[in-house]
Amino acid sequence: MLKNLQSKKTLHNGIGIPYVGLGVYQMKDPSETVQAVKSAIETGYLSVDTAAVYGNEESVGQGVKESGADRKDLFITSKVWNSDQGYDTTLKAFETSLKKLEMDYMDLYLIHWPVEGKYKDTWKALERLYSEGLVKSIGVSNFHQHHLEDLMSSSNEKPVINQIECHPRLSQEKLKAFCQEENIAVEAWSPIAQGRVLDEPALKQIAEKHGKSSAQVILRWHLQNDVVIIPKSVHANRIKENADLFNFELSSDEMNKINDLNQNERFGPDPDNFDF
Ligand SMILES: NC(=O)c1ccc[n+]([C@@H]2O[C@H](COP(=O)([O-])OP(=O)(O)OC[C@H]3O[C@@H](n4cnc5c(N)ncnc54)[C@H](OP(=O)(O)O)[C@@H]3O)[C@@H](O)[C@H]2O)c1
Repeated sequence: MLKNLQSKKTLHNGIGIPYVGLGVYQMKDPSETVQAVKSAIETGYLSVDTAAVYGNEESVGQGVKESGADRKDLFITSKVWNSDQGYDTTLKAFETSLKKLEMDYMDLYLIHWPVEGKYKDTWKALERLYSEGLVKSIGVSNFHQHHLEDLMSSSNEKPVINQIECHPRLSQEKLKAFCQEENIAVEAWSPIAQGRVLDEPALKQIAEKHGKSSAQVILRWHLQNDVVIIPKSVHANRIKENADLFNFELSSDEMNKINDLNQNERFGPDPDNFDF
């Protein structure tokens, strides 16, 4: 149920993931990252999305610690990087991430990208970590439908979530529908398209009507589509703005106007064609 910043979406394994989390991609400066995490938790965020490749797991861990929040109230996600994929290497990478975070478990661990010929072995390692209780939920990122079908054809556990590029220019209707059918939650990365669509007149008009910003309108659109969001900001005022989403509602006409902005336009790489 979508009520406030603490509201959670129930994953197919029964665990709740907060609908809103803080993304920390491209936060390079350690003190800035620590500050952003503290500021988010102070605002009421319960979730932080990091990855080994972001190089800031230590700072995320430090921010969590300095926030004084109870670890068990928080939801911490990290991801295994492409060069670490494979069974043994993933187990090792997970251990390294956990150490950097200074935590004894992770809430969610994701395969960052579907590396051909490797992601099934990587998934087996995630299944083991899950069975050992070191991670409470396991999922994937940047998986197309065919990657999910291939993975599920031979896995014991089904991914709880697929974290994908999703914003008004890339609304991902088909993949969202497939995930919904399969009871796999969808989490949007670059949920506000890194700020690229904020000047879109249709968004500005809707925003003005509700006394909100374009960013808030986009984030609310995701929530009303039952999509988990992880907007990134290093600025306390934007961290607050991106969480102030629970005192207005978009009409179906407004939702449709935002749907109409889709151009199937990716700002990031296509998961069928990446070279890293
Ligand atoms: N799985 C993947 O492959 C993958 C890929 C990319 C991202 N991600 C995850 O998704 C998270 C979010 O994606 P993202 O960081 O690419 O993009 P985003 O959240 O869509 O946008 C972040 C950008 O928008 C600015 N911004 C934030 N709030 C704003 C607001 N209210 N008004 C105007 N500008 C605002 C930020 O600047 P300031 O920081 O200066 O405020 C930053 O430049 C990442 O941090 C990461 O955790 C995952």
